[in-house]
Amino acid sequence: MNVKGAVLVVDDERAIREEIGEALEEAGHEVRLARNAEQALALLREAPADVLLSDLRMPGMDGVALLKEVRRERPEVSVLLMTAFASVETAVDALKAGASDYLLKPLVIDELLTKVAHLLTFQHLSRENRRLKEELLRSGGECHVGASPAMTEVARTVARVAPTRSTVLITGESGTGKDVVAKTLHRLSQLSDKPYVVVDLGAIPEALLESLLFGSVKGAFTGAAGRKGLFQSADGGTLFLDEIGNLSLEAQAKLLRAIESGEVLPVGGTQPVRAKFRLLAATNRDLEKAVEAGEFRQDLYYRLNVVQLQLPPLRDRREDLPGLAQCLLTKLNASLRTNYSEVDPEALLQLMGHDWPGNVRELQNVLERAMVLGDGMTIRPEDLPLGKEEPDAVDMDLRRAVRRFERGHIQRALIAEGWSRKDAARSLGISTTSLWRRMTELGIEEPSA
Ligand SMILES: Nc1ncnc2c1ncn2[C@@H]1O[C@H](COP(=O)(O)OP(=O)(O)OP(=O)(O)O)[C@@H](O)[C@H]1O
Ligand SMILES: [Mg+2]
Repeated sequence: MNVKGAVLVVDDERAIREEIGEALEEAGHEVRLARNAEQALALLREAPADVLLSDLRMPGMDGVALLKEVRRERPEVSVLLMTAFASVETAVDALKAGASDYLLKPLVIDELLTKVAHLLTFQHLSRENRRLKEELLRSGGECHVGASPAMTEVARTVARVAPTRSTVLITGESGTGKDVVAKTLHRLSQLSDKPYVVVDLGAIPEALLESLLFGSVKGAFTGAAGRKGLFQSADGGTLFLDEIGNLSLEAQAKLLRAIESGEVLPVGGTQPVRAKFRLLAATNRDLEKAVEAGEFRQDLYYRLNVVQLQLPPLRDRREDLPGLAQCLLTKLNASLRTNYSEVDPEALLQLMGHDWPGNVRELQNVLERAMVLGDGMTIRPEDLPLGKEEPDAVDMDLRRAVRRFERGHIQRALIAEGWSRKDAARSLGISTTSLWRRMTELGIEEPSA
């Protein structure tokens, strides 16, 4: 990542501030120079800056006083203080007072540029994180699908067909987000406050299919209580038939009849009941091929395939990975009660290189695992299981491997128990006191919400 920003440089020595200014400008940043703290404050009040780079010792108001004032007036500005060797302790005090970092004089320009770049990247990521969090809240937990050409097309079609009542057939490999898209179509439709009924046709045994879908009347078969079918539950709303490719030909015929007539006949009943809904269907099978092979009814296929939304596999849209990973991180933070801010660039490279046969679901699982094993802040390459059978297992010494396992295990127990020390200790079979001790030794902390 190469983030540019606005930097304000304050130093009473003209040669130094000019040298810094030039280097920053050359690196592409927007630079303003101030000769003392008072002038810096005046400039900041005129226009905001991302980073303030200030000398510590200056005549008049010094760097720490400036820092405190800036923290009060412009808390979003990151402050980087510069100080001579002799005053490292003051620099430590400055960090406590809220400086983001400090630089030792004489300055090493490369180091200065790196630190500025680091602060800007961090700001960028936190802003991005906040934005994603808000977006996620608005969208009910789904990530924006991505900026690749294929997904832009998907997003456009979703936006266009969602408000209509058209039947939509969603296709794509397992884990590409078909369920997510179906839910979005409902959420963005005029039926969003009406029922949304999902039927996983792959999970219903053939023998129960009819009564589950169409309902049954009391006494229809031995011991049967009368029961409303899923089709009837969806009346007036959206019915999502998932895994439609798995139906037998016989079931397909019944389904088609019900869809076409807008009525179903409950098992054992004589009175058809009304069931009108917006129909969505999904499958990871190639239905056209299934039709050719005689395994899927052509008339049903035509009936379902009014609008087709084809979700591309993740490996064909690698450019969406950084944004998607970041968004999933935000989403998982909420469910795991963790506070990860980013994926380390090295780890991101590994993610970009993977083939993702399990698509978004696999990505989500890989991230979740890394978050449970990881340090609580950044997803690191060593926490990703990609490309290696067992990460680091061979070149890690036993003590580290055990520690790492222990850390992950305890963290998982705590997460599972909602961070209750007492319950986690019980499930781990140790006393609460030893759990506290292990947590301190292993550096496990409950994330702040
Ligand atoms: N855009 C997205 N934003 C957030 N999470 C997503 C997104 N796309 C997919 N996921 C997550 O990935 C997982 C798989 O998505 P989903 O269940 O929609 O896939 P699918 O295509 O229906 O897979 P299958 O064919 O196996 O049913 C889910 O946990 C889902 O929450
Ligand atoms: Mg699905």
